[in-house]
Amino acid sequence: MNYTTPINYEIVKQKRDESELENLGTSTIREIVRLVNRIEEATGEKFVRMEMGVPGLNPPQIGTQAEIDALNRGVASKYPMIEGITELKHETKRFVKLFLDIDVEEENCVPSVGSMQGGMAMLLVANRTDRNRKGTLFIDPGFPVQKQQCRVLGQDYGSFDVYNYRGEKLRAKLEEEFKNGNYSTVLYSNPNNPSWICFTDTELKIIAETADKYDVIVVEDLAYFGMDFRTDYSTPGKAPFQPTVAKYTDNYIFLISSSKAFSYAGQRVATLVMSPKLYNRRYPDLKRYYSTDKFGYSMIYGALYSLSSGVTHSAQFGLAAMLKAANDGNFNFLNDVKIYADRAYKMKKLMLENGFKIVYDKDEDKPLADGFYFTFSYPGLSGAQLLEELIYYGISAISLEITGSEHIEGLRACVSQTKEIQFAALEERLNAFNKDHAEGKIISNRVKKNKEAKG
Ligand SMILES: Cc1ncc(COP(=O)(O)O)c(C=O)c1O
Repeated sequence: MNYTTPINYEIVKQKRDESELENLGTSTIREIVRLVNRIEEATGEKFVRMEMGVPGLNPPQIGTQAEIDALNRGVASKYPMIEGITELKHETKRFVKLFLDIDVEEENCVPSVGSMQGGMAMLLVANRTDRNRKGTLFIDPGFPVQKQQCRVLGQDYGSFDVYNYRGEKLRAKLEEEFKNGNYSTVLYSNPNNPSWICFTDTELKIIAETADKYDVIVVEDLAYFGMDFRTDYSTPGKAPFQPTVAKYTDNYIFLISSSKAFSYAGQRVATLVMSPKLYNRRYPDLKRYYSTDKFGYSMIYGALYSLSSGVTHSAQFGLAAMLKAANDGNFNFLNDVKIYADRAYKMKKLMLENGFKIVYDKDEDKPLADGFYFTFSYPGLSGAQLLEELIYYGISAISLEITGSEHIEGLRACVSQTKEIQFAALEERLNAFNKDHAEGKIISNRVKKNKEAKG
């Protein structure tokens, strides 16, 4: 059977077959990237690419210039200190105070090769503090690679979809998860990748209280720092501040990525911040792996030392310069990335006008923020099936199935790579999709129709 679709049906089908991916619903982000690259190459048509969470903006000149200056000073020939250059530690401490309103010491702030490495180091230390506990509880949906990190380390993990446990309901669910004494850590991102839900202060307080009760370390992944644009968190030292669990517990780790909020993904530099109490805490079981029982020392001179012996020297200067400018009130980093919210608003509107639904749509009783990601579905189709169909219409995304979401009918869209000039094409393609699918026509025929797919 041949169909007329916005992207040549035969070529898409041929590339799809050649990819040998069994099911796009369980394929990784990078596998989808590869498939779409090949279709674009073969057809000469540009996709509306919503699969990968890469920044769609230029890096701030402040960071680039500071790196050039550092390289010209010759830092490339010198090993950076594992605990980080003084400038970066100093500016991170200030950033945490000025944008989260939390007090930490410079020694608690260490650089990592992206938050990916920060997460890995965290697992290597925090999940080894108690020989009787098995690993991390992920509050899902979440970033799939973090579970892969657990798997490659041979660590166990658990997870649950928070969709049905918002507000006060979260307390009983966390109690149920923690009370078996299995977990050393609990991890979530806020704002959340993939759903863009943002925990309320009530929820953060519940996470803190239940974690404290069962002595679980809270790992707050701030990869999208301040990017809940319903509230302006951009003025240093002035409320409102980015909400954080650290207001309610002194047993936390922050992973602060520079990739999205500072459009600095390519330089692979982030900071990991341990609460002062956790940094100094002694866990006798750490001695199984490290020369000391001290948490902070094990993190720096045990885990980070063995992973990469520090972070690229110039990248640390770049990040330090951007943080300093933000701290001094000379660089409104959130203003630069606010454009993602406008895009999300417009793209969601186009989807809703063409028969699609938004899956995660509320924070307790408040409509969800517009930001870097949103989630969507099409009535009657499973996520896997929707992905298979959408590629014939020049639209790519990833399935929520790989994020620990129970809403397997949904897909995640990332808005960063879709420019305003592509909106007309997006509208046309969504329109064509809706016309073809409103009556249940399926053109890819790869995945069985999911009867349980919710509308
Ligand atoms: C929730 C979350 N955590 C961590 C990361 C990784 O950040 P980095 O680029 O700093 O390694 C990402 C990147 O997409 C993310 O979405």
